[in-house]
Parts: sequence; C-alpha cells; structure tokens
Amino acid sequence: MNCLMFNGSPRGTASNSLVMCKWLYQDGDAINHLKQVSNFNIYLNDIKSYQKIIFIYPLYVDSMPAIVKAFFEYLSEYKDVVKGKDFLFIVHSGFGEAIHSRILERYHQILKNRLDLNRVDTVISPGSEGVRLMPIQMNQKRKNRLIEFVNSFRNDQELSLGLLKETAGAEIMSKKRRRRFKFFNFLGLTNIYWNRQLKQNNAYKSRYDRPYSDY
Ligand SMILES: Cc1cc2nc3c(=O)[nH]c(=O)nc-3n(C[C@H](O)[C@H](O)[C@H](O)COP(=O)(O)O)c2cc1C
Repeated sequence: MNCLMFNGSPRGTASNSLVMCKWLYQDGDAINHLKQVSNFNIYLNDIKSYQKIIFIYPLYVDSMPAIVKAFFEYLSEYKDVVKGKDFLFIVHSGFGEAIHSRILERYHQILKNRLDLNRVDTVISPGSEGVRLMPIQMNQKRKNRLIEFVNSFRNDQELSLGLLKETAGAEIMSKKRRRRFKFFNFLGLTNIYWNRQLKQNNAYKSRYDRPYSDY
C-alpha cells in the first residue's frame, strides 16, 4: 500500500530525515516537509488520500522538533480526517543510546488515543547524524532495516520485535564504552563536529547560555 511520508526535520531538504524518506520511497508515495509550516492545510488534504502515514524526524533537545509537535496539534483540530489512519514513526537521534527516544514512543501511543488512530508503530534508530555524509555502504544496514519495517507497515504486518530491538541498539552505553567516551571527551575529541557547527552558525560563544535561568 502507498504511503504518505513526512520529513520532520527543521533542516528540510538538507536533512538525514529526507535521506531516509528517499530510501523508503516507492512509486505512488509522496514526501512532504513539515518545515513548510504554511503548507499544513495542503498536507491535511494529502492525508485524506492515504491510509498509511510515515513520520521521520530527529530527536531535538530530548523531544520532537517544534514543527512536528505543531503539526500534531494542527491535526488534533481535524480528528475526523485522521481518525482510523495508520501512523509509523521513525525517530532518529545524534546520541547512540535508544533511551533518549523512548519518551516519544510513549507519546505516540498517547497520540493514538487522542487522534483515534487505527495503528501506531515506533522505530528508534539512534546515531544518525552521519547519515547524509556517509557513503551508502556505511548506511546499508540502517537502510535495509528501515525498508523491512516499512514493508511490514505497508502490508499490514506486525513489525518484528527482534529487529526493533536490534535497530534501537543499546538502551544506554556499556561501562566500557562510557569509560572510552570519557577518555575521548577529556582529549577534547567528542565535540569537534558539533563545535564546528556552532561556529558555522555563529553560536559558539553562546553555547553555555541559560536563557531561561532568570525565570
Ligand atoms: C538543535 C538540535 C538539537 C538536537 N538535540 C538532540 C538531542 O537532544 N538528543 C540527540 O540524541 N540528538 C540531538 N540532536 C541531533 C539530531 O537528532 C541528529 O543530528 C539527527 O541526525 C538530525 O537529523 P536531521 O538531519 O534529519 O535533522 C540535535 C540536533 C540539533 C540540530
């Protein structure tokens, strides 16, 4: 069955989320970008034509990007349109530990009740920041797993619990990995990539700001 996909990344077309959408795309599917907030009414109309909807979004500050939340709030005004639909959520994150995204898995179940959905599944696929930068061979395992989940979803089959667990990986880092991480952190090697991003966005000097601490 065809799917309507939503790329929930604020990076829009330059995102890891869009790379994943493209892996999963088949003829007859459509991909929309939630970054285009002014298109929400068009997207609502698109939903009418599909039973199966896939949301792919990154973990942002331990939650979902605001554009994704805004869309769910928008949909809650149109329960008659979304009622009885099947939603698949693919949540991916910078951190490699699945535990950071579990809260969203629970939220999706709340959403299922609020919107009166027929089916809701959540795939957690951590450690995604390199996806758009890495050659396809290095993404092959993640890609194959996501395709398998989406095929099950398209065909009204249950997602494999074993594969969900494998894809999520470790809930938290092992003691050994934590020790190694602390060592690399001590050497200043863990923040190189993110610090470069902060500098590119003129935000490096503000990295320890606490804008809400006075409230
Ligand atoms: C503003 C911002 C906040 C983020 N917050 C988190 C976070 O709380 N936990 C995490 O594991 N990753 C976090 N990340 C990393 C993203 O989830 C990760 O880089 C993801 O691959 C981005 O996907 P995208 O390119 O589709 O937006 C954050 C990234 C940004 C830019």
